[in-house]
Amino acid sequence: TLGSPTQRRPGSRQRFVADLSQCLFDFVVQLLPTQEELAVKEDVRKLLERLIRTIEPESRLLSFGSTANGFSLRNSDMDLCCLIDSEERLAASDLVTMLGDLLERETKFYVKSLPHARIPIVKLSLDPSPGLPLGIACDIGFENRLALENTRLLMCYAMIDPARVRTMVLFLKVWSKRRKINSPYKGTLSSYGYVLLVIYFLVHVKNPPVLPNLQQMPPLRPISEEDTHLHGHNIWFFDDIELLRQRWHSDNNESVADLLIDFFRYYSRDFPYNTGVASIRSGLLKKDSKGWQNDLSNQRYNDARERNRLCIEDPFETDFNVGRCVTKDGLYTIRGEFMRASRILASRPERAIVALAELCE
Ligand code: CTP
Ligand code: MG
Repeated sequence: TLGSPTQRRPGSRQRFVADLSQCLFDFVVQLLPTQEELAVKEDVRKLLERLIRTIEPESRLLSFGSTANGFSLRNSDMDLCCLIDSEERLAASDLVTMLGDLLERETKFYVKSLPHARIPIVKLSLDPSPGLPLGIACDIGFENRLALENTRLLMCYAMIDPARVRTMVLFLKVWSKRRKINSPYKGTLSSYGYVLLVIYFLVHVKNPPVLPNLQQMPPLRPISEEDTHLHGHNIWFFDDIELLRQRWHSDNNESVADLLIDFFRYYSRDFPYNTGVASIRSGLLKKDSKGWQNDLSNQRYNDARERNRLCIEDPFETDFNVGRCVTKDGLYTIRGEFMRASRILASRPERAIVALAELCE
């Protein structure tokens, strides 16, 4: 029996929100990767590292993305980055070609090398097996040190308040995939983009904030310019999470369901899509001040406008818009989904589990 909200007993709102929080935890837990899956992935990483070292003995193969930042779902792909410590090294494109050939000869992976892509990578996939019932998909890139650092930043944010941050992020990842708005190649947003939207919301929108701004906290001791910069980008952030847990605590006690409801409301109604840039480093910025115009009148800016419908500043590469893949239609769809989610949660069906199922339909 789904009475209208006004007919409900007082306290039903609190009950709905408490139930929703519990449902969110339960829902997310069953989507986490199994120990077995993690072990198989680590074995794959080691195997690939061993093979790459036959070409570049000084190389290391490191995980980044969801496998390394605490936001991994069952069967998510593996993002690997090859770092080469020697001075004399092959060009990335040559390495990609050689590695692709080697893996094709020596392993059972399906291999696709993209030596001439903007970022040269080797794509691998493996058919399902007992340890990996859904197979595996893996991208190997080279020297992407900024991605390793932004992975570490997201991991630190996840560790500060795992119960709320990880639950929200994991839920939004599943939700955005089920609602088909998680495809940068089709004009919507990457998982990385959604994670940044969540952190932006928890650091800069919520008051009191749920998370501190790790990039603006004072360092414990002076650090040289050289140690904080990579390719001209300031990559410093407060990463001593143990210490942070002792010294900082959030005055925001909202439940994960409260935060999620508010998240959907904020991004369906309040975020200034036309003029604003969400920056986890600096808060709300103006498109104008970053040169990310969306001036309708000027022909010259047409391309810029298409790329800057949804503006999310990368935490380190501050001249890079993580939302640049989002098209006009894509943004329309994404906002439509935020509104739909808001509506479902505001209509408060009697049971939270029903609301959750409808959300992810
Ligand atoms: N990344 C980046 N810049 C982007 C997109 C991604 O630097 N514009 C890097 C980030 O380090 C990110 C990683 O690539 O953590 C993986 O991105 P993505 O696949 O979007 O996120 P995952 O957390 O791996 O999500 P999924 O489980 O959906 O693969
Ligand atoms: Mg990934």
